[in-house]
Amino acid sequence: MKRIPLVDLRAQYRLLERDIRHALRVIFSDMKLFLGENVKAFEKEFAAFCGVPYAIGVGSGTEALHFALRSLGVGEGDRVITVPFTFIGTVEAILQAGAKPIFVDIDPFSHTIDSSKVEEKITKKTKAIIPVHLYGQPCEMAPLLRLSKKYGVPILEDAAQAHGAMENGEKVGSIGKAGCFSFYYAKNLGAYGEGGMVVTRDKRIAERIRLLRNHGAATKYAHILPGFNGRLDEIQAAVLRIKLRRLSQWNALRRQHAGRYREAFADLPIALPAEGAQKYHVYHLFVIRTRKRDALRKYLLDRDIETGVHYPIPLHLQQALRAFRFHRGDFPESERAASEVLSLPIYPELTSNDQGRIIRGVRRFFKKW
Ligand SMILES: Cc1ncc(COP(=O)(O)O)c(C=O)c1O
Repeated sequence: MKRIPLVDLRAQYRLLERDIRHALRVIFSDMKLFLGENVKAFEKEFAAFCGVPYAIGVGSGTEALHFALRSLGVGEGDRVITVPFTFIGTVEAILQAGAKPIFVDIDPFSHTIDSSKVEEKITKKTKAIIPVHLYGQPCEMAPLLRLSKKYGVPILEDAAQAHGAMENGEKVGSIGKAGCFSFYYAKNLGAYGEGGMVVTRDKRIAERIRLLRNHGAATKYAHILPGFNGRLDEIQAAVLRIKLRRLSQWNALRRQHAGRYREAFADLPIALPAEGAQKYHVYHLFVIRTRKRDALRKYLLDRDIETGVHYPIPLHLQQALRAFRFHRGDFPESERAASEVLSLPIYPELTSNDQGRIIRGVRRFFKKW
């Protein structure tokens, strides 16, 4: 039987192949590989997609977060609030800026930051709050924006998994002071290499990030500040421009697949992804929860169906962060989620037959118990 992968980009490539080959041919004939027309155009198009005036292409989502934090003035000794249930890039960016991560547990239904627990963690040293729109689901932004105003602490959205997601009709990334995206290949908008983007309405933040990504240079070899080698390259920008034109349609297909899973699993003893009112979830991942997670995962793999676990170890229990002396039990909802979440295959090109096989596999597993 054909193996169903967690992510399959081959069908998407077949659809785009002609356009991509043409764009690459043009780049290779000019050999303008950095900060050329494609990056400029993609920044403009992605800013328009998010509904903001500025977008700055960088080398990855982690760099987007790192540069955005620095552009907000976050540095040595500062504190940044975020969740322990996210990809480590969120926290690496905080550490790279010289700051300390302060964790707030997640809400167990949305798997995003529990906004009722944020205020008690704010101190004079808090310089930013990073809500993560995990799995493509927008966070509850209104309470965070109220706290941001009350304490003068900017919100930096980690939208790495949520290109095109919306809350109250507003695109994520455009709601806080700045928003950060990853173009890691498996994302809803993925490059054929690495890439990232910061979007913002703030001209000063945009200008600062433009310097940071390019060795602090305003013009060639005139370095205004010590920066980084952190540019988005022309090849990735050209691919991303072609894909961006189809992103909304792809997100709609992901939502359709999510709807079918939801219906098919409604009577099973599993928790289905929350989709809050006024939220447009873009299902980067379709994540179910069950205490039988590991057994279900093995059962599906035995039937050639791949699944994922995002994420098996919450960040406060990672060896990389042991210097902060967190303990098991510090963030119980994140720990419980880490032991129960399972990501099923979801991508725009998932065929009806393959999805039917996944659904039958999950249903048969629960019949067995
Ligand atoms: C929530 C989250 N934040 C940050 C990142 C970092 O992005 P990148 O891998 O492009 O550095 C990712 C993805 O990989 C992510 O999923």
